[in-house]
Amino acid sequence: MVQCIKAQEKNTITAAMNHVKLEFSLNEGTPHYAVYYDTKTVIKNSAMGFILTDNAPLDKDFTVISTQKKTVDETWKPVWGEVSSIRNHYEEITIHLKQSATARLLDIIFRVFEDGVGFRYSFPKQPGLKYFIINNELTEFAMAGDHKTFWIPGDYDTNEYAYTTSKISEIDNLQVVANATDIAVRTAPDRYAVQTPLMMKSKDGLYINIHEAALSNYPAMQLHTDNAALKYTASLVPDAIGNKAYLHAPFKTPWRTIIISDKATDILSSKIILNLNEPSKISNTSWIKPMKFLGVWWEMQTGKSTWSYADNADTLNAKSQLIANGRHGANTANVKRYIDFAAKNGIQGVLVEGWNTGWEDWFGNWKEHVFSFVTPYPDFDLKEITRYAKLKGVKMIMHNETSGSATDYERQLDTAYRFMNKFGYTAVKTGYVGKIIPRGEHHDGQWMVNHYLRVAQKAADHHITIDVHEPERPTGQQRTWPNWMASEAGRGNEYNAFSNGNQPEHETIMPFTRLMGGPMDYTPGIFKIKGYSSVPGRQVHTTLAKQLALYITMYSPLQMAADLPENYEARPDAFQFIKDVAVNWDDTRVLEAEPGAYITIARKAKAASNWFIGAITNQDSRDTTLPLSFLEGGKKYTATIYADAANADWKNNPEAYQIKKITVTSATKLNLKLAPGGGTAISIKPVK
Ligand code: NOJ
Ligand code: CA
Repeated sequence: MVQCIKAQEKNTITAAMNHVKLEFSLNEGTPHYAVYYDTKTVIKNSAMGFILTDNAPLDKDFTVISTQKKTVDETWKPVWGEVSSIRNHYEEITIHLKQSATARLLDIIFRVFEDGVGFRYSFPKQPGLKYFIINNELTEFAMAGDHKTFWIPGDYDTNEYAYTTSKISEIDNLQVVANATDIAVRTAPDRYAVQTPLMMKSKDGLYINIHEAALSNYPAMQLHTDNAALKYTASLVPDAIGNKAYLHAPFKTPWRTIIISDKATDILSSKIILNLNEPSKISNTSWIKPMKFLGVWWEMQTGKSTWSYADNADTLNAKSQLIANGRHGANTANVKRYIDFAAKNGIQGVLVEGWNTGWEDWFGNWKEHVFSFVTPYPDFDLKEITRYAKLKGVKMIMHNETSGSATDYERQLDTAYRFMNKFGYTAVKTGYVGKIIPRGEHHDGQWMVNHYLRVAQKAADHHITIDVHEPERPTGQQRTWPNWMASEAGRGNEYNAFSNGNQPEHETIMPFTRLMGGPMDYTPGIFKIKGYSSVPGRQVHTTLAKQLALYITMYSPLQMAADLPENYEARPDAFQFIKDVAVNWDDTRVLEAEPGAYITIARKAKAASNWFIGAITNQDSRDTTLPLSFLEGGKKYTATIYADAANADWKNNPEAYQIKKITVTSATKLNLKLAPGGGTAISIKPVK
């Protein structure tokens, strides 16, 4: 049911859809909005506006000159995704404002959905505002209670943090940063800043998620917390000299999103963020293909081999000969070993990191080009590897680490992508480790937001799909650029290789936070849970069965089988799940979920009758019963259940699993038992 009530009092405009209601008002000329879920307040009256550099603020003295309304109810089909079609149903109100003294115009556009609200600012073309600089966005999110909050600290350059769960009033980065991050160096000076997607739960059972959609030509929004007033204020990531955004009217900001439900499962199913992005700008998308891949990668992460061919980086003398260290991972024989394993097991792709020159001093930044994107090390026989992969039917995935030299990467883009085309690479993993050089822009600032999009567009021109490491966190732009298939932009499985790791609750929070905006290259599938590192106590903080379940609960159309071939060869029965699992879906059902505690998701493979289920828990064991009522009635299926062994637990016995095959129907109720830090993965196929 859609209803819309207008102008009950002067300058108060409301719109509602089912449980969700939005209210706009002017408070002494300052725009304000509030959001309700039935009778509950979600966002209390909150101010909106901007401070500009070298121009009067756009924060008060407004009057409403007119409003427009429309209802949209449409369905569209993503190029790839969790479901085959998506309903976009909302009520839109555009409020045209005029500032009395300056005669400048500002529009605010609200969209009210059944599961939340999106709003954006629009600066119309006007004489008083041509080119301008945003000094600050004043958007507030005044919360109605001291909610339980899942947060990572504000940081202009990375989101690779573990989550802290606390009340809003307890948010204080100084208390947690020292423990929460063992790798990332925090660069945001605000001790009360947090990043979005920000997940909250109210005492009376409302789940609330704040993020943004369609981030383009604007910095990422972080949130400053006023932990006495329980209020967040937009805190835009600055550029190298402290400005936030350089704009040219007409311009529309990204959407600010507030997703709300009394069921946690609805948060994970919400399509608001995708719906607020533009349709694909790529017209022929037939070349964009989801896939699974292996990588010459975990062996470097765990110190078994090196990215660099040599240890003798003579940074000042570019002509000095590199002396082989004998531990280089990307050597021809080793790469062929991965290609053989991929071909034998039907894994479509192989990523090779450390194949090109530059790694011998990748943080030195002495050379004009930090990395060459076309020059292999002497032991990486590019022609032979290309020939061999083609013969075996395996796609090679290019790696372009830039070590933050984004300007240099842009200069080399054409060359790099023509090179990929020439050698048949259809996908690239990019990376931006370290400070962005030369000017010191931030990873999440306007310049880099535009850089990542320029790279995606250039890749699209060359029919190349991308997986970006260290970008700003996604905001649904994969709808517009479906060749941008995955991003890291969060704390991946790799932290278990080189740091104190990710605690068992981590993967039960990530879908409610980082993954709200888009797929994550989390790199699941580690089978050797202990004993891969020389550092005592270092291990993956899950059971093996949970690693399998992550293929379902951590959605990505590009999924890595991250462990070494030999570790998969040692457990072919468990590896069967990774071989079978789909990466593109017709349907998704979030069966149960609670942030920080558990998630169970069932997905139906694209154009097939197979279903896959992933169930995960945090550090606590969990018993649950799953009705399989989503299966087609009257049909018999074989379910292969990959479960934790009875005595498994993530810490002391993580590799103990059991595999069972049973016949199921839509009437079956499955009893699952998840170990502490454990999970269950299930593959369901129709009986022939
Ligand atoms: C960090 C990335 O997250 C990781 O996956 C990659 O292997 C290294 N950078 C090197 O590029
Ligand atoms: Ca990273």
